[in-house]
Amino acid sequence: MKILLVAPARDWLEAAVAVFKTELQFEVSIADNGIEAQKLISQFQFKLIFLNLDVQRHSGIEVLNFIKIKYHNVPIIFSTSQKDLITKDLLTKFKNYYILPPDGSLDDLLKLAVTMTMPNVVVQSKEKKPKKNTEVEGVMELDKNFTKIKIDEFFSGKEVLFDVLIRLTEGKYLKILHAGDSFCSERLNTYKVDKKVEYLYIKTEDRELYIRYYNTLLKNSSENKQIDPTIKIKLAQNVCDKYVEEVNIKGLKPHLVEQGKQIAQNIYKLIKKDKAVAKSLLTLKELRPQVHSHSFLVTLFSCLVARQFKWNSSSTIDTIGTACFFHDIGMTKLPPDLSTIYSSNMEGSQIKQYHRHVQLSVSLLPPNSMFGGTVDQIISQHHEAFDGSGFPRGVSGKYINVLSSIVSFVEGFVEYMSEKSLDPMQTTNELFKEVDFLKKHNPVVMRNFLKTLIDAKDISNTLQ
Ligand SMILES: [Fe+2]
Ligand SMILES: [Fe+2]
Repeated sequence: MKILLVAPARDWLEAAVAVFKTELQFEVSIADNGIEAQKLISQFQFKLIFLNLDVQRHSGIEVLNFIKIKYHNVPIIFSTSQKDLITKDLLTKFKNYYILPPDGSLDDLLKLAVTMTMPNVVVQSKEKKPKKNTEVEGVMELDKNFTKIKIDEFFSGKEVLFDVLIRLTEGKYLKILHAGDSFCSERLNTYKVDKKVEYLYIKTEDRELYIRYYNTLLKNSSENKQIDPTIKIKLAQNVCDKYVEEVNIKGLKPHLVEQGKQIAQNIYKLIKKDKAVAKSLLTLKELRPQVHSHSFLVTLFSCLVARQFKWNSSSTIDTIGTACFFHDIGMTKLPPDLSTIYSSNMEGSQIKQYHRHVQLSVSLLPPNSMFGGTVDQIISQHHEAFDGSGFPRGVSGKYINVLSSIVSFVEGFVEYMSEKSLDPMQTTNELFKEVDFLKKHNPVVMRNFLKTLIDAKDISNTLQ
């Protein structure tokens, strides 16, 4: 694997070369200035480029423009100490990129490089025997440093980039899988069935890597018709849940915003490329309505509806998908109990507080919004109703952005589905008889939602 590292500091470059060569056996070229970088780029075909935009003698931006001409598909990792250099315009030039924060370590870069150059992954591939060590190792550390994952949501057969542990008791863990090793399904089953383990744990500091790892799996699975649609949906749910958890805790950092857009794109691809996924989505009994899953469900169904509009484009999907992820982020600033009550069961002061989440969500978006105004607008209107009975402003009909109308409809749909523990088809049957519900939503949006059901029926007939 041939990669290029471009950064102004020679000593940093040398340290990086040593690490990349030892840990990954990558073939590494380096450049400490823009001229040298461009020379190397024109001579070789790199699989990954790391570019610190602070380089000089041809600035980082000049090098980027040069890369864009030579090959814009190359995975690229940017870094810079000058925040303003990374603009929306710049990012739209590249399909596969990641921003390493200025305080990112060499270790972070190494992990990123592994994920970004990961070969295509087939989720249900023939499993390799676990490569290295299956030894377990005791770990004593505070519970708050770990993130739990349902064992059912863990996929076997692929090397992981993070340690995996099980919890014995408070502060005591057992490392059962080391970064770089893979679980074979028998071993995973032993923990699940024989040892009745319900949750696996990863270090919270590895959660971002976990999200990236699962997002890559999701991306690669979208075009693979061999993979069961239910598994694909679970994968998407998994990555969304952990992503929303990360954002709720760390806030909307620019690199997390970018990650969110990529997840939204992958979800859309999943629905668009594999119609069986759209079909099973509507009848799936296992869509677990949990607090974090709410954003996932709203994203998923909004993309499903948006896909029916003729004007849909990848930038619209980016916008609506991103808005859905963050539409309720303001709830994190309200008393935690409020997230556990359905709005239909709230009383006086609770309702008043709940209504504040819309403005809070908008205020939590990055100050130099990376989305333009549309995401803000979708979020600010996601509880407005077609008949003017919504909040916070009570606007109606054509004064509500159509993308907001989609989210508003899906919001109501998902809330009803979760509250009554129904599947999407049952929810549709019940809700479309409720006059009050129908009055509140844009008829075009609802018609397009129903079209997804008709499409799904067609697919179902073809499959039979
Ligand atoms: Fe919501
Ligand atoms: Fe909301």
